[in-house]
Amino acid sequence: EKSIVVLISGSGSNLQAIIDAIASGQINGRIAAVLSNKTGVFGLERARAAGIPQIVINHNDYDSREHFDTAMIEAIDTYTPDLIVLAGFMRILSAEFVRHYQGRMLNIHPSLLPKYKGLHTHQRALDAGDAQHGCTVHFVTEELDGGPLAIQAPLDILPTDNADSLQQRIHHAEHNIYPLAVEWFCADRLALSVSGSVQLDGSILQPEGY
Ligand code: GAR
Repeated sequence: EKSIVVLISGSGSNLQAIIDAIASGQINGRIAAVLSNKTGVFGLERARAAGIPQIVINHNDYDSREHFDTAMIEAIDTYTPDLIVLAGFMRILSAEFVRHYQGRMLNIHPSLLPKYKGLHTHQRALDAGDAQHGCTVHFVTEELDGGPLAIQAPLDILPTDNADSLQQRIHHAEHNIYPLAVEWFCADRLALSVSGSVQLDGSILQPEGY
């Protein structure tokens, strides 16, 4: 059973999907702790309701990203996690933090990466007139939203869509693919190789240099 620490900044619906997938037996793991950089967010309430320890480390209490990240590493590592899951964690991570959890940190991003790294992804996909949009789970590397992909869910953009309707459908897709990627990782089926490629069941899913 793998030990997981989930990092959140908000409502935590992806956290909830992973909690549910553990409860149903889909994921062979346990969430050792949930860390938020904000107090009072609903994701912390979800953790409390599930009996999971909650940590709040407010980035405003630190004078630099490096000091904030060091405080997070110290708190996280008391749980000796096998996997760090970024689930709507809205702070950019330092190179040191990313290197510390290299190969054992996943993120979910609301676009079909490599398209639309960063923010406002739904509006940007609409503005570009894209036929499809979606979400991506990827390993975290030092390049923001640039790490190699583990799984994507593409969705057709409808003529009637706006940013809100797209966000809703994408959230739903996120709740399917994130637990799946975590399931694979916890079953030792999904891994980031030293060369930087992603492997699923020993086959290369995402070549090095993506
Ligand atoms: C999700 O849509 C996730 O893809 C996005 O934040 C939302 C969190 O929702 N993440 C990012 O934009 C990361 N840059 P949740 O708190 O309900 O899981």
